[in-house]
Amino acid sequence: MSTEGVDKGRRRFLTAATTVVGGVGTAYVLTPFVLSMRPSAKAKAAGAPVEADVSKLEPGQMMTVEWRGKPVWIVRRTEQNLNDLPSVEGQLLDPSSDNTAQQPGYAKNIHRSIKPEYSVLVGICTHLGCSPTYRPDIGAADMGGAEWKGGFFCPCHGSRFDLAGRVYSGVPAPSNLVVPPYQYLSDTRILIGEDGGAA
Ligand code: FES
Repeated sequence: MSTEGVDKGRRRFLTAATTVVGGVGTAYVLTPFVLSMRPSAKAKAAGAPVEADVSKLEPGQMMTVEWRGKPVWIVRRTEQNLNDLPSVEGQLLDPSSDNTAQQPGYAKNIHRSIKPEYSVLVGICTHLGCSPTYRPDIGAADMGGAEWKGGFFCPCHGSRFDLAGRVYSGVPAPSNLVVPPYQYLSDTRILIGEDGGAA
């Protein structure tokens, strides 16, 4: 595309933007706004890390933040949840997280996280991309009864994951949920999308 074409396109956008806010602002006011929305700035924002404050998260609760247009779940696991992680391993496809594409190196452990208490996962099913449901209810009858130790259920085709995002055997999803790159900025602040090269 020529520079001229870009300029023309930008002028058209300016005209459109002026029309939309008609009467509220002037072209002078609009200029910084338009500049802040340049494609490069937007692209940068879309890929930027996001911060999550987990100070209000109670044991057993999950919060969701958006990173790169995807949901990222943070679950504060209970003592019981952590104690239960080894007990489901016989039912999992990749209990040791050997598929290293699914998590950074610092999350290749039984809890698949930096701190055992907090699980950080991309909330997108590794089958065809639906967003699974948080099912922390241990022993839920519709999840298999006593054997269910809490986790995630994908309603699209029935894939199940444990509370570390590890996929069960015999379901359509072929791999564990993705652990994004992340780091702790403090005890209760997590930066998602940037790990300072720790992986
Ligand atoms: S998309 Fe989750 S099971 Fe198919």
